[in-house]
Amino acid sequence: MGATVISMKDVTRVYKMGDTEEHALRGISFNITQGEFVAIMGPSGSGKSTCMNMIGCLDRPTGGIVEIDGKPTEKMSEKELAVLRNKTVGFVFQQYHLIPSLTVVENVMLPLRYQKIEKSERLPLAEAALEKVALVGKMNYRPHELSGGQKQRVAIARALVTRPKIILADEPTGALDSETGRQIMALFNEINASGTTIVIVTHDPRVGAAIRRCIHIFDGQIKADVMQTPVPFSGDSFDPAEKPHILAQPQHVRAVQAQPPRAPVQPHQQPMQTRTQVVQQPAPVVPSKSAQVPPLQPMQTAPVQVCPPAAPAQSSAQAVQASAQTAQKQMPDLGSLPPAARNAYLNGTIK
Ligand SMILES: Nc1ncnc2c1ncn2[C@@H]1O[C@H](COP(=O)(O)OP(=O)(O)OP(=O)(O)O)[C@@H](O)[C@H]1O
Ligand SMILES: [Mg+2]
Repeated sequence: MGATVISMKDVTRVYKMGDTEEHALRGISFNITQGEFVAIMGPSGSGKSTCMNMIGCLDRPTGGIVEIDGKPTEKMSEKELAVLRNKTVGFVFQQYHLIPSLTVVENVMLPLRYQKIEKSERLPLAEAALEKVALVGKMNYRPHELSGGQKQRVAIARALVTRPKIILADEPTGALDSETGRQIMALFNEINASGTTIVIVTHDPRVGAAIRRCIHIFDGQIKADVMQTPVPFSGDSFDPAEKPHILAQPQHVRAVQAQPPRAPVQPHQQPMQTRTQVVQQPAPVVPSKSAQVPPLQPMQTAPVQVCPPAAPAQSSAQAVQASAQTAQKQMPDLGSLPPAARNAYLNGTIK
């Protein structure tokens, strides 16, 4: 069993907006071991990106403990967090976040410059990363000269170039067509096979089904954490009947909020590193057409909370505010870039 590289203990995140509070995470706990490949799934607004931001030290929790690579982050300064992030984590995002004025190879070299790696060493390392994503031939192109899938491969090369222990990807296939998404998933599988821990946030059931461990989040809480037999991502030909076979159920279950009493701990069906809370029967990973594979079962007989309906419609002012906040929240991945490059990107100026 590998070492624990990501540990979340009862992590909460509350966003304050004037008088209102948005409870984006309501006490999330799990461990991820070195070499695992994990999907974080859930509907829009359930807290997936917030959870990812915690793992990537892009944001601090309101409560609870986040340990990355065995290091508690709570008391770290911003600078220490930036160093931990740069050395340990590579980020991949739906919108790639490549710097348009830089060439492909310059984009990939950026995190190395931030690590103060000698200029002469940066180029071979970047070339090696581009080799892994089969893009050496495009190294002098600029991002606008690439397809979406190629841009995402550059972003993956940029994440890989520092040889991080962990790669975090937030909706990495979200902007891609099915075939390109399949290629990106195949690439992630290759990277994972070489020992890199990968955590992918997705609401695409095909992506979730293709990953061995799947943590389901709903309304800021974990409602299921399962080990499953992955169903390879096969683009448009995904067959709902090929629902992943659940290998292990959550081992720890408890009712939440007004649901007394706490339910008993379940016996382990398979050893898992995770402590999981189930608040209702997990939604099927894919549409439940399959008669062959039974859906996940509730793990306890205590009353189970029915999850609330989708968030109420926002006023337009709230919507604008939320959208601005979301945009702001999308920016922190730029934190892994050197200040000059970040400023150039934000200002839209050439570096
Ligand atoms: N910076 C912020 N300020 C205020 N509220 C926020 C902020 N970021 C996220 N939220 C709120 O926290 C909740 C969880 O948001 P989050 O972005 O983590 O959801 P998500 O699961 O990633 O959704 P999606 O699939 O749409 O990306 C949402 O209700 C969202 O409005
Ligand atoms: Mg998100």
